[in-house]
Amino acid sequence: MGGKQKVADKTIKSFIDLFDDHASGAVAAIEEYHRAHEQLLTAGSTETLPKTPVVIAVKDLTKTYKVGRQKLDVLKGISLDVHEGEFVALTGPSGSGKSTLLQLMGGLDKASSGTVEVDNVNIGKLRDKQLSHFRGQTIGFVFQFFYLQPFLRLQKNLEVPGMFAGIRGIERKERIATLAEAVGLQDRLDHLPKELSGGQMQRAAIARALLNRPKLLLADEPTGNLDSANSKAIIELFDRIRREFGTTIVIVTHDQAIARHADREIRLQDGAIV
Ligand SMILES: Nc1ncnc2c1ncn2[C@@H]1O[C@H](COP(=O)(O)OP(=O)(O)OP(=O)(O)O)[C@@H](O)[C@H]1O
Ligand SMILES: [Mg+2]
Repeated sequence: MGGKQKVADKTIKSFIDLFDDHASGAVAAIEEYHRAHEQLLTAGSTETLPKTPVVIAVKDLTKTYKVGRQKLDVLKGISLDVHEGEFVALTGPSGSGKSTLLQLMGGLDKASSGTVEVDNVNIGKLRDKQLSHFRGQTIGFVFQFFYLQPFLRLQKNLEVPGMFAGIRGIERKERIATLAEAVGLQDRLDHLPKELSGGQMQRAAIARALLNRPKLLLADEPTGNLDSANSKAIIELFDRIRREFGTTIVIVTHDQAIARHADREIRLQDGAIV
């Protein structure tokens, strides 16, 4: 066995040991993983480390809509895995099925066939109540049009998911203060959504999605309505979220700069991965 191989085995072992620890070790483990990977790359090695655990497993997923007598095959057998701590960009032309796929991954819609497992749970098998509980605990969503409640001030908008998840008032307020600071909105908590700029609304929607500390963040064109400076700020925020919380992130985007920035680009065309 060569020296390089020994180094690799050792980093793999410490990586796995870290993972055995438990959730709080996950962030450290991912950082260690990235460091180890970089070391291997700089050592000129072509071998790859084992991947982090799978958070989303999609198998043979199809979605067919019936419109009148017409059947529309929107997803035609998608299979993919997303690993813990990964930042994946989902790209493809308009109508290729990106939003449909993201909604199925998040359990917001039912597949016609195939399975989606999130955190080893087959979400297609959950009943409505279990599913919404699971979603609230495990997944954060960010949509292009924010969906902030127009009559609630930012503080209350941020509190809502925490109330549904049964997080105590004091804890909610602490988390909101931390998140508002993280997204630079600490002095906007008394504003109504209409009193925020587009970029601020988007950052608010991201803060809201993170309140329950989801393992997985799903975002549909989160920078679609923003100028390039604000888009950049959002992507830097995503990087930070991943680094600090170990969150797995899947975003739908038309922005090639963001797709290049992600760990991996998954491209859809006509309901299939290309
Ligand atoms: N509820 C529905 N009933 C019938 N067809 C639908 C429905 N929702 C979506 N579709 C069709 O499914 C296809 C994929 O839609 P989807 O929203 O996933 O595309 P997309 O890749 O997100 O596009 P865009 O980049 O424009 O957002 C489209 O052709 C759309 O017309
Ligand atoms: Mg879409």
